[in-house]
Amino acid sequence: MMPSVLDPARLTDPGFHADDSAHAVWRALREHDPMHWHEPTRYPGFWSLTRYEDIRAVSRDARVFSSAQGILLRPTAHGTDVGGGRTLALTDPPRHKALRNLVADWFTTRSVRALEESMREAVRNVLAHAIELEECDFVTEVAARLPLYVICGLMGVPDEEQELLFSLTKLAFAAGEPEIRGAAHLQIMQYFTELMYQRMDSPADDLVSALVTGQIDGELLTEEEVLLNCDNLLVGGTENVRLAVSSGLRVFLDHSDDWERLRTERELLPTAVEEVLRFTSTATHVMRTVTEPVLLRDQRLDAGDRVVLWIPSANRDERVFTDPDRFDITRTPNRHLALGAGQHFCLGGMLARAEMRIFFSELLDMVKTVEQTGPAVPVESIVVNGLEHLPVRLRAR
Ligand code: HEM
Repeated sequence: MMPSVLDPARLTDPGFHADDSAHAVWRALREHDPMHWHEPTRYPGFWSLTRYEDIRAVSRDARVFSSAQGILLRPTAHGTDVGGGRTLALTDPPRHKALRNLVADWFTTRSVRALEESMREAVRNVLAHAIELEECDFVTEVAARLPLYVICGLMGVPDEEQELLFSLTKLAFAAGEPEIRGAAHLQIMQYFTELMYQRMDSPADDLVSALVTGQIDGELLTEEEVLLNCDNLLVGGTENVRLAVSSGLRVFLDHSDDWERLRTERELLPTAVEEVLRFTSTATHVMRTVTEPVLLRDQRLDAGDRVVLWIPSANRDERVFTDPDRFDITRTPNRHLALGAGQHFCLGGMLARAEMRIFFSELLDMVKTVEQTGPAVPVESIVVNGLEHLPVRLRAR
């Protein structure tokens, strides 16, 4: 019998993920109960997986472990996910691959490399502005901007309209009044509806055009499918980078020796970025639904069973990572699962890595000191983790 501070039921409490407390529960589950059954509550019943190998194996078997019924654990009252079977993240093979092929070209290493210079310039502008301010919220004023500009650019949003989308996404994805969030989200959808119609009339070289002109089995996507995928790309492209960059900065504030080392040993940036991804693991869970009876850890799972994969737990599994709770910017190998695994491996993985590397390298170049000027406000969610706000003062070099 595990003590109550380690009660696995707490994993479904958003407030429980506001600090590092969940790690103690995951550690105990990895050790004593790596496939834990949660009885139905306001959430449906589900299995919790916490070990690296299990999470990787389930992620890599998209036939038996389906994404089409939703990839997030939601309260039962929430009903079915509207994107189910229609967005990239929520489709299964073979349709998933066909859908992914429509947009994959924009996210290859080559395409990302072509964006490097413009990303660097955007970060410089964002940092110059933040330095001018006496004090700013690093999360919204700095970390949120580059990923939003980049994904908007790829989708075909003209430069002069990106600020509008920035303000809307700030409202739509921030904590706060559900009505304000809902209204902002609706405006974003209206914006993309207009862009979709424009691209139907005159396609250009961008993601929205790829979605409106692309065919799967000889058929165009429906308008609703195009819009749901725009939403998937916008959220996917912004939320986790914002969280990983700001949590990464927070970790570096606690590990100033590592930060100073990066100043002189820039060649360590790529491994440092991987370690930030592993250590912060901003995607807290993904879920799958079993499609046919299967044995996992000698336990029979039935069709319809839900399996929740706790990604930060996989990334601290002591069976795979030496000294897993230590932040080590030289860690190699570092085969973390922060970007997922298998067919649904993060579409923007290369882009995210480049954005993070550029962010940190420009911060090192342009900023002498980062001073935290108030308490960091954590996100309270079982879906993503990190910071809602991080007040700082940046001083130029
Ligand atoms: C640090 C940044 C990021 C993290 C931690 C992250 C994390 C993840 C994870 C864990 C998955 C797998 C979901 C699953 O297995 O069901 C995923 C998928 C996805 N990510 Fe990311 N992501 C990041 C950045 C991005 C960026 C920049 C984009 C740009 C568009 C993006 C777009 C997507 C999309 C579209 C999918 C669905 C792919 C599919 O199902 O085939 N992500 N991401």
